[in-house]
Amino acid sequence: MSIVLTVFSVSLISTILATLVVLADKVLNNYGECEIDINDGDKTFMVTGGSNLLSTLASSRIYIPSACGGKATCGLCKVRLGSEVGAVLPTEEPYLTKEEIDANVRLSCQVKVKSSLKLYIPEELFNVREYKAKIVRITRMTRDIKEFQFALVNPASVAFKAGQYIQVVTKPYANIKESVMRAYSISSLPTNNQELEIIVRLVPGGVCTTFMHEYLQEGDELSLRGPFGEFYLHEGGDTLVFIAGGSGLAPIKSMVFDILRQKLDKKLIFFFGAVTKQDLYYVDLFTKLDAEHDNFQYVPALSQPDISDEWEGEIGLITEVVGRYITDTADMQAYLCGSPGMIDACIRVLEKAGLSQADIYYDEF
Ligand SMILES: Cc1cc2nc3c(=O)[nH]c(=O)nc-3n(C[C@H](O)[C@H](O)[C@H](O)COP(=O)(O)OP(=O)(O)OC[C@H]3O[C@@H](n4cnc5c(N)ncnc54)[C@H](O)[C@@H]3O)c2cc1C
Ligand code: FES
Repeated sequence: MSIVLTVFSVSLISTILATLVVLADKVLNNYGECEIDINDGDKTFMVTGGSNLLSTLASSRIYIPSACGGKATCGLCKVRLGSEVGAVLPTEEPYLTKEEIDANVRLSCQVKVKSSLKLYIPEELFNVREYKAKIVRITRMTRDIKEFQFALVNPASVAFKAGQYIQVVTKPYANIKESVMRAYSISSLPTNNQELEIIVRLVPGGVCTTFMHEYLQEGDELSLRGPFGEFYLHEGGDTLVFIAGGSGLAPIKSMVFDILRQKLDKKLIFFFGAVTKQDLYYVDLFTKLDAEHDNFQYVPALSQPDISDEWEGEIGLITEVVGRYITDTADMQAYLCGSPGMIDACIRVLEKAGLSQADIYYDEF
């Protein structure tokens, strides 16, 4: 009898405690209706407080750049605040410079909306939309890279600059119960504005890339958000050097094709670094482009070709190959896309050759 009473008392106390926690959470986290004011009145609207600023804005169709979906691991979701929201969190510190902290720049995924807020964002973010898109073709390019072609369903077209990226919103699958959002550079041409192509490298154990490589089928529909990013062609530069590795080829493909299509009076050289021949892709496409355009040169390079590759092209790390080709950097700009390690090494080589940091643009992932 006493055991039954003890069990009953313990469960009663647990239930009361659990109810108190839920009630306390409701009271403490009830921030009510808060006004969001963007760019001094350009847009104002009411939201319910209590969530982070990134998702609060998204629910009002204001999409801030994000590659990690709010995990504080990409540092892309910065906004400048015109209101006080408390001290910078340790999770934000690695991504904010002292100047940014002084200017009240914060990671929107780490700021909780607890009261009315003023904030400032670039105007072009007002053009970012969520698109329903249908997968029309999935093509394997290498052992770990696939190309995905989307047809836009609603809205039916998108305006973007070659080099920009979109966010893919995944659906729950297998043990993954929540949607995630990841950034992918658009590899197709801006003129083909009813379709989008992206190139995705499978990251072992990666939530989004596993979904895309192993669960997504032709005919499926997905949500995409964009366009985002400042990795696009900038003013100046008679000679443009493009350097990519792996899926970093994606934005470069869009930029190279767009520049050649516009017949801009520029000389282009594209270095693509891979380990062995089986890591190369789009070789025929770029070789043909090279043959058709006097102002475009394609330089694929292998760091460790197999004997069976019978490789007659450039051999060596992409930095060594770039160092051999780039000796005169007058009127030059460089556009780099690939892993952080590759980008850092390429920047060092280009600077050593005389290129100033201001003429080097990059997207790293
Ligand atoms: C602006 C921008 C553009 C991008 N464009 C492309 C693109 O065109 N094509 C493309 O394939 N990717 C691109 N990415 C990377 C992409 O957004 C994802 O980060 C990547 O696909 C991994 O997502 P995931 O959900 O599969 O992995 P997650 O579940 O996020 O990560 C799983 C694990 O893998 C690690 N990890 C994450 N990313 C990588 C990586 N790239 N290499 C090695 N380990 C990693 C994580 O640290 C984690 O431990 C881009 C990123 C940015 C910021
Ligand atoms: S969304 Fe990636 S750090 Fe905020």
